[in-house]
Amino acid sequence: ALKAHDTVRRVLLPAPRSFCAGVERAIEIVERLLEDHGPPVYVRNQIVHNAHVVADLEARGAVFVGELDEVPDDALVVFSAHGVAPAVEREAAARGLDTIDATCPLVAKVHAEAKRAAEGGDTVILIGHEGHEEVVGTIGVAPDRTLLVESTAEIAALQVPDPSKLTYLSQTTLAVAEVETIAEALKQRFPQIKGQGAEDICYATSNRQAAVAAVVNEADLVLVLGSANSSNSNRLVELSTSAGVAAHLIEDAEAIDPTWLENASTIAVTAGASAPPRLVDEVVQALAALGPVEIIERVHTRETQEFLLPQRLRPTAQRRP
Ligand code: F3S
Repeated sequence: ALKAHDTVRRVLLPAPRSFCAGVERAIEIVERLLEDHGPPVYVRNQIVHNAHVVADLEARGAVFVGELDEVPDDALVVFSAHGVAPAVEREAAARGLDTIDATCPLVAKVHAEAKRAAEGGDTVILIGHEGHEEVVGTIGVAPDRTLLVESTAEIAALQVPDPSKLTYLSQTTLAVAEVETIAEALKQRFPQIKGQGAEDICYATSNRQAAVAAVVNEADLVLVLGSANSSNSNRLVELSTSAGVAAHLIEDAEAIDPTWLENASTIAVTAGASAPPRLVDEVVQALAALGPVEIIERVHTRETQEFLLPQRLRPTAQRRP
């Protein structure tokens, strides 16, 4: 059981935290389809990397599958927020499946950059984590012309067909500082490489990192709501531990280990972009149940980003003719 205390504990809530516009859009797509079309609505891969979101949608009739061969003919299939390789879109089209694409527009932008670079004859160097769904999709845009780099250590041995024809891009949910370092090392080795620092990292990822960085030195403990497979959530934990502060990735309030709280008089609570806001509220409630807390919201940036739903799901008035 969590241990009660009587001195006031400070709970810092860095903002922004929790859902980003791409995640809200992806969830809304599945919700709308469940309402308009009715279950089952098939979703290829987890719609977003969060166990609670997936379980909630599953309870309402969404069916999550790893590959299209698990989807019956004539079914409605949603592609997840992380994006899909064009080969998957072709497979769906060949089978005549009705598909709706919930790929985040900021992932789609990186796909478009990869396509443009490859069509222009460049080799794409993608900075990202092997096996992550977004990376699988982005490599799939130009599979014969893309090389994956995970760290600076790999750069020295990189073999490229033509050092004058290179573009680097990155996964959207990495650590800003790390991508800048890797990009710098790529430029050292290949002075003609094209690319813009860490600009493929999305606003939500960089804002959540900056908001945590702004409070981490005041905290004795950082709790990050997020699932184990959520890239941007893991980066928030790493950012905190590399600042020398104990930090843990937790699925929900129940995952808090009481020993973490011993001697933690200031606790920062944040959430990755795929973690629902109610999970943060539940952690705050769990901490408040142990004794007096002072809850302090620390706004680093206000986010206003919104993404339109795909055409066919927009209210009629918003549809383009
Ligand atoms: Fe999109 Fe970034 Fe969210 S890529 S889904 S806005 S974490």
